[in-house]
Amino acid sequence: MQLFRTKPSSPDDYCNSGLRRELSAFDLTLLGIGAIIGTGIFVLTGIAAATLSGPAVVLSFVVSGLACAFAALAYAELAASLGGCGSAYGYSYAALGELLAWMVGWILILEYGVATAAVANGWSGYFNNALTAIGLPLPYSLTHAPTQGGLINLPAAGIVIALAILLIIGVRQSSQFNAALVFIKLLTIAVFIGVAVFHVNPDLWSPFMPFGWSGVGPEGKPIGVLAGAAIVFFAYIGFDAVSTAAEETKNPQRDVPIGILASLAICTVIYIVVSGLLTGIVSYKELNVSSPVAHALQLLGINWASGLVATGVIAGLTTVMLVLYYGLTRIFFAMSRDGLLPPFFGEVHAQRQTPVRVIVLCGLLIAAIAGFVPLGDLAELTNIGTLAAFVFVCIGVIVLRARQPELRRPFKCAWHPVIPVLGVLSCGLLMANLPLITWQRFGVWLLIGLAVYFAYSMHNSRLARAAP
Ligand code: ALA
Repeated sequence: MQLFRTKPSSPDDYCNSGLRRELSAFDLTLLGIGAIIGTGIFVLTGIAAATLSGPAVVLSFVVSGLACAFAALAYAELAASLGGCGSAYGYSYAALGELLAWMVGWILILEYGVATAAVANGWSGYFNNALTAIGLPLPYSLTHAPTQGGLINLPAAGIVIALAILLIIGVRQSSQFNAALVFIKLLTIAVFIGVAVFHVNPDLWSPFMPFGWSGVGPEGKPIGVLAGAAIVFFAYIGFDAVSTAAEETKNPQRDVPIGILASLAICTVIYIVVSGLLTGIVSYKELNVSSPVAHALQLLGINWASGLVATGVIAGLTTVMLVLYYGLTRIFFAMSRDGLLPPFFGEVHAQRQTPVRVIVLCGLLIAAIAGFVPLGDLAELTNIGTLAAFVFVCIGVIVLRARQPELRRPFKCAWHPVIPVLGVLSCGLLMANLPLITWQRFGVWLLIGLAVYFAYSMHNSRLARAAP
């Protein structure tokens, strides 16, 4: 049985896709920042500050940044030793065997799919804010999900369909295009910091921790700094996407670890500064809105900055969605190439040279989710999946060290096994602070995944067919 058999850990055996190796460590860092900074900082910071952490949302960012740092170091070690075989799915296949690799791939499908829908929700908030500014606001019923008293979040569903069309046409994610949008995003943040820093009222930081470290809220959901950390964790998602570009990187064993660690470090600093300033310029109680950064500037009466920030955010969130959506099709590809999913998911359209069917199928599903499920639920589901994938990556480091001690490791986590163990514990702690309903939804997703594996993947995988 191939259930626990691993793929060969040399990239040349399995992972060499023949893609052109053009990306440098600098490109990867920009790719990471492009994928990371989005709805998390521009929307969820407000929700988390208002409902879970108060001004201590800045501590929530520190806590989830730490969990990500441990996971990022584990990613970096695997990226360095396994080279071109990118993504948590590829690493798990090399370290933990087929069944767990399948589960990680299945979780990544959830992560990238639901995260795209979540970012579409964030995009919709800022888009409607911009329409309101020019006197054309959409009615409440068309910008909110049914559980929020609306009918459908139309802009959220619409942007996903627009992106699907772009991806079908074959948008090339050139690194220059990405670099330009990252620049706009960083400029937007610089404008916010430059303006906000002169309007800080330190009294607003008190009480600093109105909901404490950890507690139970009115609806039985966790609240406090840790619950805030579990939700703002969404802001860090994306540094893992750097590893999926390994097959197009010039020197993956050196450049991918640099790209992962540098993009995460830069974003952590930005998040701490922005969240600290946001709760210092308006009361945290005012921030439970769909575009809190622009809203805070509006409350200060600085409308030009509010408009500028809103426009930058709309552009910035579009790239996050593109990278996540693109990452989703790439995971389908890899799993289909390994025989774990039917060849349908790896088919490329002859003329367009893009996986049209997968893009359409995912686009329709994601648009429906984005239109009918509110942001908070989507972010929590994304987070539980991503945290679980991080736990597997950390365990993968420990298992691979034991199984293949002689493997060349150009980058090694110091004090082994302290870092991966801390990664498992800190990601586990954040998972424990997510609501029960999120766990139940995640459990259902895992059960469906197991059923698909035993009904289809196990019998059709490349390893199964290659077995004597
Ligand atoms: N980290 C990305 C965001 O916050 C997913 O939008």
